[in-house]
Amino acid sequence: MKFRLNLAVFVSGRGSNLQAILDSAELKDLIEVKVVLSDKADCAAFQIAKQFSIPTRILGDREGGIGFKSLASFLSELKIDLIVLAGFLKLIPVDVIKNFRNRIINIHPALLPSFGGKGMYGMHVHKAVFDSSAKVSGPSVHFVDETFDTGKIIAQKCIDISGVKSPEEIAARVLVEEHKILPFVIKKIAEGKVEISNGRVEII
Ligand code: GRF
Repeated sequence: MKFRLNLAVFVSGRGSNLQAILDSAELKDLIEVKVVLSDKADCAAFQIAKQFSIPTRILGDREGGIGFKSLASFLSELKIDLIVLAGFLKLIPVDVIKNFRNRIINIHPALLPSFGGKGMYGMHVHKAVFDSSAKVSGPSVHFVDETFDTGKIIAQKCIDISGVKSPEEIAARVLVEEHKILPFVIKKIAEGKVEISNGRVEII
């Protein structure tokens, strides 16, 4: 049997990036999504997971939930190789970061290190990009460290937004690229083609 990367995908909302991962023909033989976790019990992303018969778990200290204190051991028991934050809004606990160093990635809908950090999510990001009159934007996929959006960048896609008329237009155009770049990065990681040396991340 071929080795597959075991994924845990963390979500908080719509789940279109989760859908892109699950729909990716290129990832089919490379990954297995073992569990989808969310801090929001009623998120649309859970419905997507259910359509693919993937177990879902709620995060937090509530009945049936996984508390943040037991998250690291839960993920280790499932033999998770890679954690993918696909629209997850909470900070990952420090012990999980330590246990999964360079094995947690996040997708951010702007070109980091600009337009990131606490409170910069969803339309807040695209509004800030629009208000700045920036002429380019695009998704960034990065490793996750102890603070929001500061980990090393793995891949980015720069798109021309010089003619846009609204933050919503930026969001729509960036989202198209998100759905390509996230499966691309996961594929490269699964193939062992993401290297970290001398503090820099390279796709080989
Ligand atoms: C995406 O724009 C992603 O970049 C950001 O949150 C959004 C999630 O969208 N981190 P979805 O839930 O994947 O549709």
